[in-house]
Amino acid sequence: MSGLHQLLENNRAWAASRVADDPEFFTRLAGQQSPRYLWIGCSDSRVPANQIVGLQPGEVFVHRNVANLVVHSDLNCLSVLQYAVEVLNVETIMVVGHYGCGGVQAVAERRSTGLADNWLRHIEDIANKHAAWLATAISDEARGARLSELNVIEQVANLCRTTILRRAWHRGQRIEVSGLIYGLQDGLLRRVGVSVGDGQSWQQAYEAALQALKQRVADGPERPTEAGPR
Ligand code: CO
Repeated sequence: MSGLHQLLENNRAWAASRVADDPEFFTRLAGQQSPRYLWIGCSDSRVPANQIVGLQPGEVFVHRNVANLVVHSDLNCLSVLQYAVEVLNVETIMVVGHYGCGGVQAVAERRSTGLADNWLRHIEDIANKHAAWLATAISDEARGARLSELNVIEQVANLCRTTILRRAWHRGQRIEVSGLIYGLQDGLLRRVGVSVGDGQSWQQAYEAALQALKQRVADGPERPTEAGPR
């Protein structure tokens, strides 16, 4: 296991290689950031925003928390959103869930994680809302996969209902919100539902996304499922 010393060595080598490729790289970035994207994802170490979508430093504004939640009273997430929308003028917001999410899986299996149970209560609310459909899943893993996708759909809806996005759309700002889910096993991002580009269509998009998810699962097979970290 590498300690901090190794990380500092790595950092020096990385910084030197960036300058070798592009002598103005850090000078330019130090001047300003102008990312076009906001990523709201899970804290899971296996789902690093920039690498997955091939973006460089300066190209994506990132907010991560356990199980990629957008909670209406979470000042941390709302502050990131407000800054991204009103100061950075991002054009695309991604809510990115992932299969095998430890937080989601804990709720799917009704397993306690300690203090985080309080945070995950938001996922439990989603599980209760869709309890009948989740109960038909063939295994804990399958239920976790369904809940991971439901969670993305619900968080996209939460995002679209924030005062920040409502106001932005009302004044005519162009912002598209999309739900995505990442597969730990294949490294691929898949769309969940359709993108929302205005303040009126989110509810329709929400209903359609739920229906499409249930139809896809009914047509089978379920998404490849993965066990989350314990
Ligand atoms: Co996760």
